[in-house]
Amino acid sequence: MKTLSRGYVVVFEGGEGAGKGTQIERLVGYFDRCYGAGSAMVTHEPGGGFPDIRERIFQLDKSLPDLAERELELFEEDRRAHCQNLIIPAIKSRKVVLLDRFYQSTISYQGYARGMNLQHIREANRQATEGVVEDLIVLLDVDPRIGLNRKYTNQPEKLNRFEREGYGFHEKVRLGYHAQASQDPSRWVVIDASRSVDEVWSAVFSAIQERLGL
Ligand code: TYD
Repeated sequence: MKTLSRGYVVVFEGGEGAGKGTQIERLVGYFDRCYGAGSAMVTHEPGGGFPDIRERIFQLDKSLPDLAERELELFEEDRRAHCQNLIIPAIKSRKVVLLDRFYQSTISYQGYARGMNLQHIREANRQATEGVVEDLIVLLDVDPRIGLNRKYTNQPEKLNRFEREGYGFHEKVRLGYHAQASQDPSRWVVIDASRSVDEVWSAVFSAIQERLGL
C-alpha cells in the first residue's frame, strides 16, 4: 500500500452533464485500492458547508434584480464553512480532497455567464478560501448541447434553475472555464468530456499520475 506524504486538493470543474461525478467515483476507487480506504475524501459545492444551501440557492426568484449578487453571497457563505470545517482539516490529515466544483464555478457562472465583475468575485473567493491551494484543476470540457442533452435524457423533471438557462448562458460558462484554464495552464488540465466514460477516465488517470505523481 502506498502512503501520501501530504494532503492534496484536486478540483473537478465543468458545465452541466460533463460527468464529474462518475469520474470522481472512479478516482476514489483508485485511491482506496492504492492508498487505503478513506485516503480520498469527496465533497461537493454547493452544500459542502451547509446542506440546505442548494435549495436556498435554487429557490431564489430568477426575476430578482440582484440575483447574481444573492447567488454569490450564498455560494461564498457555503464555501467559507466548507473550507474551514471540512477541506482544511482533511488536508491537514493528509487526505486527497476531491472537490466536485469549487470557486472556479463562481468565476464561470456568476462572472462570465451572469456578467458580475470578475475582480469582485475573485476577492470574495479569496476571503472564503483563505489557506486552500489546489494542486490540480481538472476541467471536463463538453459542448453544452451535448452536456445538457445528457441531463434532459436522464432526468428531465429534475433540472435545476441553472440547467434551465439557455445554451447562450452555458456557452459563456464554458468560455469562462477556457479563460481560467489558459491563464493558469500549469494547474489546469482540460479533458475532452464528449467521449466515452472509459476514454475520459484514462485521460483523468494520466493527469493524476503525470501532474501529481500519485
Ligand atoms: P448541482 O446539481 O448541485 O451540481 P452539479 O451541476 O455539480 O451536479 O448544481 C449546482 C449548480 O450551481 C450548477 O448548475 C452550477 C451552479 N454553481 C454556480 O452557479 N456557482 C458556484 O459557485 C457553484 C459552486 C455552482
